[in-house]
Amino acid sequence: MQSKAIYILTLSLAVLITACSPKDPIEQKVDQLLKQMTLDEKIGQMRQLEGGMMSDDLAGQIRAGQVGSLLNCANPQDVNYYQRIAVEDSRLGIPLLMGRDVIHGFKTIYPIPIGQAATWNPDLITLASRQTAMEATQVGIRWTFSPMVDVARDARWGRLAEGYGEDTYLTSVMGAATVRGYQGDSLNDPTAMAACVKHFAAYGASESGRDYNTTWIPEIMLRDVYLPPFKACLDAGAQTVMCSFNDINGLPSTANSHLNIDILRNEWGFDGLLVSDWGSSSDLVPHGLCADKKEACMRSFKAGLELEMEGHTWDYLKEWMAEGKITEKDIDDCVRDILRVKFRLGLFDHPYSADTTLFYQSEALQLAQRTVEESAILLKNDGVLPLDTSKCRTILITGPLADAPKEQLGTWIFDGEPEHSITPLAAFRNMSGADIVFEPCLNYSRDTSHAMFAKTIAAARKADVILYFAGEEAILSGEARCRADINLPGAQSLLMAELAKTGKPIVLVVMAGRPLTIGKELNLANAVLYSFHAGTMTGPGLYNVMTGIVNPSGKLPMTMPKMVGQVPIYYNRHNTGRPATTPMLIDNIPVGCPQFSIGQSSYHLEVGDQPLFPFGYGLSYTTFEYSAVELHRIDSENFVASCTVTNTGERDGQEIVQLYTHQKSGDLVRPIKELKGFTKVFIPKGESRVVEIPFTASQLGYWHQSFDQHDSHVWFATDDVDYELWLAPNSNVQTAPVSFRLHN
Ligand code: NOJ
Repeated sequence: MQSKAIYILTLSLAVLITACSPKDPIEQKVDQLLKQMTLDEKIGQMRQLEGGMMSDDLAGQIRAGQVGSLLNCANPQDVNYYQRIAVEDSRLGIPLLMGRDVIHGFKTIYPIPIGQAATWNPDLITLASRQTAMEATQVGIRWTFSPMVDVARDARWGRLAEGYGEDTYLTSVMGAATVRGYQGDSLNDPTAMAACVKHFAAYGASESGRDYNTTWIPEIMLRDVYLPPFKACLDAGAQTVMCSFNDINGLPSTANSHLNIDILRNEWGFDGLLVSDWGSSSDLVPHGLCADKKEACMRSFKAGLELEMEGHTWDYLKEWMAEGKITEKDIDDCVRDILRVKFRLGLFDHPYSADTTLFYQSEALQLAQRTVEESAILLKNDGVLPLDTSKCRTILITGPLADAPKEQLGTWIFDGEPEHSITPLAAFRNMSGADIVFEPCLNYSRDTSHAMFAKTIAAARKADVILYFAGEEAILSGEARCRADINLPGAQSLLMAELAKTGKPIVLVVMAGRPLTIGKELNLANAVLYSFHAGTMTGPGLYNVMTGIVNPSGKLPMTMPKMVGQVPIYYNRHNTGRPATTPMLIDNIPVGCPQFSIGQSSYHLEVGDQPLFPFGYGLSYTTFEYSAVELHRIDSENFVASCTVTNTGERDGQEIVQLYTHQKSGDLVRPIKELKGFTKVFIPKGESRVVEIPFTASQLGYWHQSFDQHDSHVWFATDDVDYELWLAPNSNVQTAPVSFRLHN
């Protein structure tokens, strides 16, 4: 009896203490606000509408508390107009969350994200993203739909321009760096812009690199390859996540409760908001998952979708509530996540845009230029670069990208202004003392006209060097811009061939939204510099690299195929049971030879099994030598790989040292190599630096699966087997590895 009384007393005390324990002030505010909200106001918070045009109807909906967020309202007067209605005229004064695709810069445009990844410099990308947030928040944009961390192994897919390439680890590091820049040190700061990690998930795996297409991905691959960058961005503090358009194994992401609830909420503890992609909830109808929008509403809601970006399936929420399938408590849980983000951003305290226009500030332009310089990848050089300006008195600048202010900005530029672009032509004219002759020859990248060939070739004959700026227009990459042919478009290849016939040295600069198949042009050029669309400061950045003011250091974040038929091609593939050793190519096969006489191994008859350039590849104007790698075991979890890198050339330079590991056997087949760390180090000529790259045992773990038909569960573990590691300048160089085991 006495013990029961003590038990009841203890229980009552516990309840009292819990009830009185100081709750996070933001949670308190969220709860208080929720209590005051009507059901309509709650559902209103779950709706995001297009706000790019002034509209009385939209203003009315905001006044009535029927809208929680706008996208594409990017003019400070409009932002403040709508915000004032929300804050001053709506019943509860809940501010709108203003979202926008600010993907690689707002006004000052930086290289497209795949170019940013080529810097392998996360600190630089954090600084660049911070500047981007400083520009965008001035007009009232407090939420960017970026970074896109979709791992992409297929160069046909146009949206790879928006991501960080083919590698899970590099994508994780760069995505997290971007989040840190956007959000700054405090979300509550008016210059902080909430990040939105997208597209959840596996959008980059679309079949045949065709946008919005189906993906088929085993759970263990989803977790090993596609999900870690999302987790890394959430660990960096990302406040929001966007569903992807694609279906995975037959289930579109917007209706995927395994992704959006089991993994995102329950495993990862995400407490920010989940937004659909544009209309991705109503897309469940054309997907063939739902019969109509009403059903799409239910499937999305039950799968954890909270904020609907256009699409209007939330119009059916009340019908489902009336039918007892959705409760107000379910609605409250969604609204709580949305309000939490608004409070964290301090929107209730400072809802309005500053309405200043401090764009293109020198700090932003300098960072943009540095990012161009560090993202340029030198693929080939017979010594023509850096240009010797004392010998190159007459320079022919040609090609459709040489003076294309809009095209150099790249895809997904809504606010960037071509009139602020400095093109390569402008940079060479302003910065070099040489005689610059300009013949564009082709007016745009797809131009097939030969009308200007003769004039251009005549100019080429008189020049000391030809700088040929080739590539793709911005519109050929990005959303829904997928290509089945990834050669240089138009007559650009032909122009290369004609220029080569002059015998003059040619520097080919490729400005594109994806890795292109440039094998033919590579053979004809004396030097090739690959620059993904590099933004506002493309000209000065490339000028500095081409003239040697800056030593190139960029490295490929994505494998470059020889032919489109090789894709998907990526460095961390499986070996297969029959790896290619000495592939016999198609032209060497004897006519009529017996079936098995040329061997049986894994390659394509036209190109073998190797790419044009491997992941991680990039040259410098200097050379680096690596000493033998050493492994230091700090404790059972922490390791450090180290070596000495010596700059053996004649110029100071930066080297990106890459740590690769390989698991020699295991419960499942593992990739032939995997990037586990990297560092970018500056080494003056003739000097050496000790490079140390930490990694953890957990990084060597992977997702296992039981293949029992009654039990197909997955789990994360390391195997107790032999591993090896090495440090290398790219994924194709295998320096002598160190062997080790984790458990001794
Ligand atoms: C569709 C795109 O897939 C997504 O990335 C973007 O953020 C939204 N539209 C908003 O523009």
